Amino acid sequence: MAGDEYFAAHTADTTERERLAFLERGVDPRSTRHLQALGVAPGWTCLEVGGGGGSVTRWLADRVGPDGRVVAIDIDIRFLREIDQPNVEVRQRDILRDSLESSTYDLAHCRFLLLHLSEPELAVDRMIASLKVGGWIMIEEPDFSSYQAADPDHPMSEGFTRMVRDVFGRAAGSKLFDPYFGRRNRALLEQAGLSEIGNEGTAWLWRGGEAEAREHQLSLPVLAKAGICSEQEREDLEKALTDPDFTFVGHTVFSAWGRRAV
Ligand SMILES: C[S@@+](CC[C@H](N)C(=O)[O-])C[C@H]1O[C@@H](n2cnc3c(N)ncnc32)[C@H](O)[C@@H]1O
Repeated sequence: MAGDEYFAAHTADTTERERLAFLERGVDPRSTRHLQALGVAPGWTCLEVGGGGGSVTRWLADRVGPDGRVVAIDIDIRFLREIDQPNVEVRQRDILRDSLESSTYDLAHCRFLLLHLSEPELAVDRMIASLKVGGWIMIEEPDFSSYQAADPDHPMSEGFTRMVRDVFGRAAGSKLFDPYFGRRNRALLEQAGLSEIGNEGTAWLWRGGEAEAREHQLSLPVLAKAGICSEQEREDLEKALTDPDFTFVGHTVFSAWGRRAV
């Protein structure tokens, strides 16, 4: 689906750091709840793929403690290299191309990564091969089918819902990212022959100016530059996403997990 270059690869450091911080603020409570439920514990060895701004890596490192270890990989480690925890190792790696240990990890996790990749199945296979038998994989990807205005009486609601459908429709036909990837998570893990597969999707209600709204506002320039939204759409969407009186249903985050059986 997506091309080989990550869509925000050329975004300035401060804007991209801010965008990732809003993503983390919006999604971390869901990720850590699921990771806790899987039983991540002191002493575990974890692989974080496409670690981005590093919040999940930091959380895992605290959780596994001094007897555990977290290896965080990303093609772009400009933010991960700021992590200063002795049980974290940061590596600049492409999950689709570069070497990775086999049968080593208790957990391999990725979030908001597969939707950007040209070969997501290969990434999942490589993550599973890195697990010990009995180790867990968790993949968490968004699905924008839920994304729409929440208040029918707000003057921007109708236009917002129409525009996001158009914009995500264009994105789905592009090589930039797949906005409807999240729904594929379960089947991806089933095809890989895992055991104890589970999944959950959650969408939150947001106001303009809050974390998910700010994250998407900061993505608009990239979408405009790629021709996926027009300047007028960018301006109108930005108006809604910064208006605290405007409410919307956020993307659904589908978290799915399973265990390496053999
Ligand atoms: C949307 S960000 C998500 C960051 C983080 N996982 C989070 O959810 O907060 C996607 C991350 O995946 C990384 N990435 C993209 N393609 C990759 C690849 N082929 N191999 C490893 N990392 C990749 C990007 O550099 C970026 O840091």
